[in-house]
Amino acid sequence: MHRRIIAPGALTAAVLLLAIPASAASYAPGAPGIGDPYYPAYGNGGYDVSHYDLRLKYQPATDELEGTATLVARTTQDLSRFNLDFLLDVDEVRVGGAKASFRTSGEHELEVTPKTPLAKGTPVTVVVRYRGVPSSKQAYGFTSWHRTPDGGVAANEPEAAAWWFPSNDHPLDKATYDVSVLVPDGTQAISNGTLQSTSSRLGWTRWNWRSDKPQATYLATLAVGKFDITTGTTESGIPVLNAYSKDLGANAGSARASLERTGEVADFLAGYFGPYPYNALGGYVPNTTTGYALETQTRPYYSPRQFANGSNVSVVVHELAHQWYGDVVSLKRWEDIWIHEGFARYAQWLWSEHEGEGTAQELADYVYASHPADDSFWTVKPGDPGPDNQFDIAVYDRGALAVQALRNEIGDEAFFAILKGWPQKHAYGNASVADFQRYAEEVSGKPLAALFDTWLFQPSKPATSAARTASV
Ligand code: ARG
Ligand code: ZN
Repeated sequence: MHRRIIAPGALTAAVLLLAIPASAASYAPGAPGIGDPYYPAYGNGGYDVSHYDLRLKYQPATDELEGTATLVARTTQDLSRFNLDFLLDVDEVRVGGAKASFRTSGEHELEVTPKTPLAKGTPVTVVVRYRGVPSSKQAYGFTSWHRTPDGGVAANEPEAAAWWFPSNDHPLDKATYDVSVLVPDGTQAISNGTLQSTSSRLGWTRWNWRSDKPQATYLATLAVGKFDITTGTTESGIPVLNAYSKDLGANAGSARASLERTGEVADFLAGYFGPYPYNALGGYVPNTTTGYALETQTRPYYSPRQFANGSNVSVVVHELAHQWYGDVVSLKRWEDIWIHEGFARYAQWLWSEHEGEGTAQELADYVYASHPADDSFWTVKPGDPGPDNQFDIAVYDRGALAVQALRNEIGDEAFFAILKGWPQKHAYGNASVADFQRYAEEVSGKPLAALFDTWLFQPSKPATSAARTASV
């Protein structure tokens, strides 16, 4: 997926380069995007990051974030320069120890020119020293850093990373993370994975988090504020750490009543999806006013609003289902969002069945019947919804309906084998809707092109005969 841009003036350059050895002619800037049709500027070309080490300091009183990001990477082409995606103010960039020149461009590009060009296949370490007030930075007219009364939190999709660390910001480039954050004593810093240690000195406490399985950039999260932390273990032996803002008011009880069932839910989902793919689990609820939840790896983000009507275990099911469908297997391009949202919604239907609140088939029938043929709901194609409809309700509900249609077409045995096999087949990697179709055809032995086309790619309501839905 790493594409090289042919720079303007390349022809003139080519003529000049005739005079020098052929090997040098291949050095070119890395592309400013990884090649995603929905988001051409997201991610970058020419290198692959394997590890992010973020050593940060955050002052809740002023929303100032500063620190150093060290990216352990490898080049995938001969590079004269490369881009990172980042919004904060950069003081210094070093590549392989040497100071590099840099400049900003576009909505969130940081162009880095190393002192000497980098040959393809070379390990390279990039150090970025930076500072800034994340809530003051906008890209595409919004900010993904949400200020809270006692701190701030980075959580959004598809974009969140650029507000707190420089990265190759696309799910195609996954990496492991060490996130170490210094905050004033009495304040907590929450991130993904395992809390390795905390230590306090000079009025500041350092929180060291490690996420040691490949993780997409938008699934990395940071929250700073005053949190109550609970810990436990699932029946299957995975450590659970939940964090609740001390400031959840009337939603404090319902938030706990929901998140404290994380272990139970993860074990329930493992029954359908196979073993939980990580060694840490939990969730956190900061005191934000945002409306969505997010499947941040190992430790989903929940908004207090989700718990305003009492417990909401269904949202916990949704975000934990993403750990298998979205996190351990991530989309290749953002148009593949159905393999995240369609299945996370379907998991909620399976949970509903488990709770005696309606079977998956009943819920599919309900969704089908709720939207008449002229409802714009059916104009959204879950298999290619477009960037503006990426999180439209149709991607979720029509998406889950497509899952039920598949189940009815191939039968429960093949269907549940696929549900469990998929997270293993592409574990810690990426896959597309087309990959899913191919896999489903392989396991079921049935041609499924027509079914996928009808349920995922047509801008119209499928006929009831296409699946045993809408029998009501
Ligand atoms: N993947 C998230 C979920 O379904 C959706 C996030 C939507 N993002 C947003 N900015 N509204 O749980
Ligand atoms: Zn979701």
